[in-house]
Amino acid sequence: MKIAIIGTGYVGLVSGACFSAWGHHVICVDVDNARIDALNRGEVAIFEPGLTNLVTSSLQSGHLQFATDLKKAVRDIDIVFIAVGTPASAHDGDADLSHVFKAAQQTALALCGPTLVVTKSTVPVGTSERLEALMRSVRPNADFEVASNPEFLREGSAIADFNKPDRVVIGCDSDRARALLLALYRPLMEAGVPVITTTRRSAELTKYAANAFLATKIAFINEMADLCEKVGANIDEIAIGMGMDKRIGAAFLKAGPGYGGSCFPKDTTALLRTAQECGVSLRLVEETIASNTSRKRTLAHRLRALLGETLQFKKIAVLGLTFKAGTDDMRDAPSLTLIHALQSAGANVHAFDPRGMKNAHALLRDVTFSSNPYECAEEADAIVLMTDWQCLQNLDFKRLGATMKRRVFLDLRGVYDLDMLVNRYGFTAERVGHPTRQAPEDRIIRLKRRVTYVPPGVEVHNGTRSLRGSSFTRASSASVQRELDHE
Ligand SMILES: NC(=O)c1ccc[n+]([C@@H]2O[C@H](COP(=O)([O-])OP(=O)(O)OC[C@H]3O[C@@H](n4cnc5c(N)ncnc54)[C@H](O)[C@@H]3O)[C@@H](O)[C@H]2O)c1
Repeated sequence: MKIAIIGTGYVGLVSGACFSAWGHHVICVDVDNARIDALNRGEVAIFEPGLTNLVTSSLQSGHLQFATDLKKAVRDIDIVFIAVGTPASAHDGDADLSHVFKAAQQTALALCGPTLVVTKSTVPVGTSERLEALMRSVRPNADFEVASNPEFLREGSAIADFNKPDRVVIGCDSDRARALLLALYRPLMEAGVPVITTTRRSAELTKYAANAFLATKIAFINEMADLCEKVGANIDEIAIGMGMDKRIGAAFLKAGPGYGGSCFPKDTTALLRTAQECGVSLRLVEETIASNTSRKRTLAHRLRALLGETLQFKKIAVLGLTFKAGTDDMRDAPSLTLIHALQSAGANVHAFDPRGMKNAHALLRDVTFSSNPYECAEEADAIVLMTDWQCLQNLDFKRLGATMKRRVFLDLRGVYDLDMLVNRYGFTAERVGHPTRQAPEDRIIRLKRRVTYVPPGVEVHNGTRSLRGSSFTRASSASVQRELDHE
C-alpha cells in the first residue's frame, strides 16, 4: 500500500518506520524542516530504542521517505494517517485540535484518487465527523473517507508495541474503509493480535477510556503507598498481592512520584471536558487528576520533611528527569513540578538524566546539569531519584556518600533497599510506600536541634553536656540519652 503519515513524532515516526518495514511504501511528512532534513540523513531527533536502526534500514530499502511538502506527499496515496500532536489547550484543558484540523484541511486540498484519512492522534469523540465535515467543505466531491485508529504504543518500547500490540482498534463507518484497514493490519491478525472493529466514536473513546483507567490505577496505588508509609506496610508486596488477581492485573501498580508524560495528563483532562460538555460527571477521573496533581505538588514537602530542615540554600541532586525511563520525553514530567517547587523554596538544583537533559534544558531555568550521577551529588544535601533508568538502579552509595554534604536519599521509584542504604551506607532514606528510615548519625544531628528547644523540666546528661527540657515531642529522654551517648 502507499501510506502517508503526517507528523514525525513518537507516534508518526514509529508508525511510518514500522509500516515501511512491513513492506509498504511510506512517506512521512512534518512541518519541522530541520527534523525532516535530519531524518533524510538517517538522524532521528527523538530517543526511542531501536528507532534509528529501523529508520536507516527502511531509508536504504527505499520503502521510507521524508518530506515537508504535505500537498505533494498525500497525492495518490491509499491511506493518510494523521499523527500530529493534540496537546492540552492552555485555555480549558481540552485537546487542542488545531494541528489535526490543519493537517486534514491540507490533505483535503491535495488528495486525488480514493483516499482513506485515518486519525492516529488521540482525538476526542466526534472528531472524525468534524474532520470529515471540514474536508467536505473544502473538497465536496473528492473521494475520501475518515476513520479512527487510535495508537496505544508506549514510549520506550514503541517499536515492540507497534509490531505486537495487545490489540488494534479500528473505527470506521463504512465497509470500504474497514476492509482497507483490516488488509493493512492482516500481518498482525495472522500473528494472533486481536483486531477490534467498531464505530469511529467508540474507537476514539476507547483510547481515552484506556488512558483514564491506567491513570486511575497509578493514582490508586500511589494513595495506597501513602497509607503504607503511615501504617508500616510494604507497597511493593501489596502490589504483588493485588496484581496476581487476574481481575486486577499486575501492570501499572508501581508506586511513584505520580504519572506524567505526553498522554495521561492531557488525555484525562480532555476526557473530562468531553464529559462536562455532555453533562456527564466523571468523578473517578476528576479525583484521579486531583490526586495526581496534589501528589506531584507535595514532593518537595516530602523532601523537606526527610531533611528535617528548610530547603533554602540546600543543594539537591535530582537523578532522572524524564517522565519515565526509556524516553527523552519531558512533557509533563513530575521532575518539572518537583524542581520548580524546590527552586521556589530556595534550593539549588543539580540534575542528571541519561537522555532527557537536552529537552529539560529548554524547560528549566537555573538548574546545573551534570554529566553523571556522582558529579551531580557532590556536596549535595540530598538526592531524589525521579526516574528508574537502568543506569540509576545500581548506584555506588559508598562513592555518593563520600562526597555528599548529608547522606539523604529520597527514592520515589522504589528501586533501593532501605536496610542497605541505612545500615550499610549510613543514609537517611525514604522509599515510596515504605516507612522512613534514619541513619544513626542523622538522628543525632536532628536530635541536637530538638533538644536545644526543649523547655525546662527534663534533664539529659552525656558526661560533657547537660540539657534541660519539660518534654520531647518525638523522642523520650531515655532515647535522647542514648543518642547523646553515641556522640
Ligand atoms: N507519545 C506517545 O507515547 C503516544 C502514544 C499514543 C498516542 N499518542 C498520540 O499521538 C499523537 C502524536 O503524539 P506524539 O507524541 O507523536 O507527538 P509529537 O509532538 O512527538 O509529534 C508531533 C509531530 O507532528 C508535527 N506536526 C504538527 N503539525 C503538523 C502539520 N500540520 N503537518 C505536519 N506535521 C505536523 C510536529 O512538528 C511534530 O513533529 C498525539 O495525539 C498523542 O496523544 C502519543
